[in-house]
Amino acid sequence: MFDNVNLNDVYKIILSAPKKTSKYNKGVAKRINVSGKEVMQFELFTDKQAFHFNVDFNELDSYLENTFNTYFTQAQVMTQDYTYGYRMTSKGHLLTNKKKNNESFVVLNNNKEKTYLLSEGMIIPPLIDLGVMTKEGKVVKAYYDKFKQINRFLSIIEDALKDFNKDSINIIDFGCGKSYLTFIVYYYLTYVKKIKAVMTGLDLKEDVIKHCNEIAKKYNYENLSFEIGDISLYQPKEYCDMIITLHACDTATDFAMYHAIMLKTKYLLSVPCCQHEINLQLDKSSDPLITKYGLVKDRLGAIITDSIRANILEYEGYDVSMIEFIDFAQTPKNILIRAIKKNENKKEESLKLVEDTLKKYNIHQTLYDLITKN
Ligand SMILES: C[S@@+](CC[C@H](N)C(=O)[O-])C[C@H]1O[C@@H](n2cnc3c(N)ncnc32)[C@H](O)[C@@H]1O
Repeated sequence: MFDNVNLNDVYKIILSAPKKTSKYNKGVAKRINVSGKEVMQFELFTDKQAFHFNVDFNELDSYLENTFNTYFTQAQVMTQDYTYGYRMTSKGHLLTNKKKNNESFVVLNNNKEKTYLLSEGMIIPPLIDLGVMTKEGKVVKAYYDKFKQINRFLSIIEDALKDFNKDSINIIDFGCGKSYLTFIVYYYLTYVKKIKAVMTGLDLKEDVIKHCNEIAKKYNYENLSFEIGDISLYQPKEYCDMIITLHACDTATDFAMYHAIMLKTKYLLSVPCCQHEINLQLDKSSDPLITKYGLVKDRLGAIITDSIRANILEYEGYDVSMIEFIDFAQTPKNILIRAIKKNENKKEESLKLVEDTLKKYNIHQTLYDLITKN
């Protein structure tokens, strides 16, 4: 039925116009990469839920035909260059058409589109304990956004580690909270990448840390532990290869970055949030055009904060990029600062930029204070 298209080239499929008897309203399938293997991930929607199925390319033809015949009367099958249309009439005739795409679809693995390393159906035991996944490996709807964010974080870790050549990696997750990210990174590195990962999660919250340690123990994750503590007071015991932070609040991110600088940590991946410190210091005289609007002032404060952090990391010998972490529509906290230690030389011009900015706005900033006053 879909024999006019080479299904191996398909990037996206949309199933619509459900049959009267259909339990699904709509279906969408995307090409994704699961542990190095490409599959089509189908998402079939009812009124209240979405169901996910990963389909191998060698089974795609029969799966697609079966799903279409059972539930839908229209389909669009998209390859890089063409969109193939299918419509089953009420008399059972299949009408088809083929149109050249105005713009080519993005090939999923070329970094323009976010690919997910972990997909639904892949059972990650601690996530069941944390309520993110069902026992069948389905992501609970309320956690979709979190799951996507963490998958994205994971792909940035994987990319950063492409030249990593040691047998084991030591990682600290500062402000780990319920530790979805910590567990997923540990699971992925240990069981998928088969790298020895020694991980520590640190957070202020006693009950949360206790629960995380219980889960780690339950699954015999002997190289994963959680500690109660304040990032600003943390005394690192040894060198660590990577520091990660995901939404560690306000200046907690600065202290995490400071640890990375002091330890000469090779990889620092940080998604800041709640950058209040500078916002609270900006007054109407700072930049009247912008600071008179609360929302924009808040954004300006966050942008200045993260730009100062990035420049300080450059000053300290890191190669720094600001990466869009996740769609703005999902969260405005969507910048990830990626810093990879490259050399020991101080980059004075970056520090000068920071100092000019502090002067211009008449503000102070925690990471700057830490590196200059200690
Ligand atoms: C928004 S939550 C994010 C949790 C987790 N990283 C995530 O993304 O799901 C921020 C976490 O940072 C922790 N935190 C904030 N300031 C901290 C500090 N100074 N030391 C340790 N943890 C801190 C909070 O307790 C909270 O669990």
